[in-house]
Amino acid sequence: MTQTPDQKPPRAGAARGPSPQDDEPLLVVRDLSVVFPSRRTVARNGAGGGSGSGSDHGAVWAVDRLSLEIRRGETLALVGESGSGKSMTALSLLRLVPEPGRIASGEVRLAGEDLLRLPEAAMRRVRGDRIAMVFQEPMTSLNPVLSIGRQVAEAIRVHRRVSWRAALARAGELLEQVAIPDARDRLDAYPHEFSGGMRQRVMIAMALACEPELILADEPTTALDVTVQAQILELLKRLTRERGTALMLITHDLGVVARYADRVAVMYAGKLMEQGDARAVYARPRHPYTLGLMASVPRLDDPPGRRLVPIPGQPPDLSELPPGCRFAPRCAFVHGRCREERPTLLQAPGAASGHLRSCFGFEEPSGPQGAGAPARAGTPAGEGTER
Ligand SMILES: Nc1ncnc2c1ncn2[C@@H]1O[C@H](COP(=O)(O)OP(=O)(O)O)[C@@H](O)[C@H]1O
Ligand code: SF4
Ligand SMILES: [Mg+2]
Repeated sequence: MTQTPDQKPPRAGAARGPSPQDDEPLLVVRDLSVVFPSRRTVARNGAGGGSGSGSDHGAVWAVDRLSLEIRRGETLALVGESGSGKSMTALSLLRLVPEPGRIASGEVRLAGEDLLRLPEAAMRRVRGDRIAMVFQEPMTSLNPVLSIGRQVAEAIRVHRRVSWRAALARAGELLEQVAIPDARDRLDAYPHEFSGGMRQRVMIAMALACEPELILADEPTTALDVTVQAQILELLKRLTRERGTALMLITHDLGVVARYADRVAVMYAGKLMEQGDARAVYARPRHPYTLGLMASVPRLDDPPGRRLVPIPGQPPDLSELPPGCRFAPRCAFVHGRCREERPTLLQAPGAASGHLRSCFGFEEPSGPQGAGAPARAGTPAGEGTER
């Protein structure tokens, strides 16, 4: 039998019988904020010198008091237009926010342990071992001058004390699991000999190498054609289900959400706008931004001839946010209160428990989602204000 380097003690959530702990979310993020200081502050203090004084006008809050949870075996899709803070959210979970950005506040609890308070040496052990990341463009993450087998084996050896032979044998097994044809015979191949889809499979194999509890996949299929995209997402979904691994799937594609996610969190300009069961959100969004996203992309259940309607305007400059709801300048349902007060993320009226939205309320259009002219806005009671 092949010797494998999986000598870690079993963890809660590994594929096995349920335990009381399995009810607890694996990842709990509370009020997480990531800030980039204004250019003026950087010039004055040098890179990395975020003032944190509150006087840094023009600072960019790339992630603004974000809270979410992911359970073992669950796929959470993080959705939003480009620049909404999805990548910074993922990088902050690994404490890899690029300078001069920094995590300004919050908690990131992995199985109860706050990662933001761990010493850096302990955090290094978390990266790749307990949380792994799969990026959008595998070519930039793979070393072009090292063989595939060696790179996967190295990923194993960073976190496990095993011989090269054992690591290479395990690399072969992993490449087989991600359905690379003739995997064991191709350990000596170089990245340029693989197609984009095969390289992304290699990245997934590397992410799985140490059996992480959580995988962060940042637009893992954006660079791939549609058929390969579906294969890769099916693979990720199957492997995470089988192993009880939690998956944060970052995407701007709502079709991906409907097909692969259990839950969805919709992000806009650094803030969560809507969060809930993926099917429920897809069937009936409770936030104008989600409605706008849905109206702008084709859907499987589209009536023939539905026109795609892009959301008008652009996301705001994060250093100069409007005073009220940050979506107000683009919202088809904006009303007086929206321009003065900031809505907070609360249970959406009439929706299943846990379906949250950050909106004062609006009269939803009838007919297919997002179509139709804006109706008169309503302001149901109980929809709160942020500050
Ligand atoms: N190096 C940087 N310097 C300043 N601001 C940045 C930097 N990187 C990202 N940001 C800010 O963070 C925001 C969120 O970025 P990001 O998380 O990469 O968005 P997404 O992944 O949703 O496209 C950007 O809109 C930008 O304002
Ligand atoms: S709070 Fe107002 S502006 Fe913001 S999304 Fe809701 S209806 Fe639109
Ligand atoms: Mg991104």
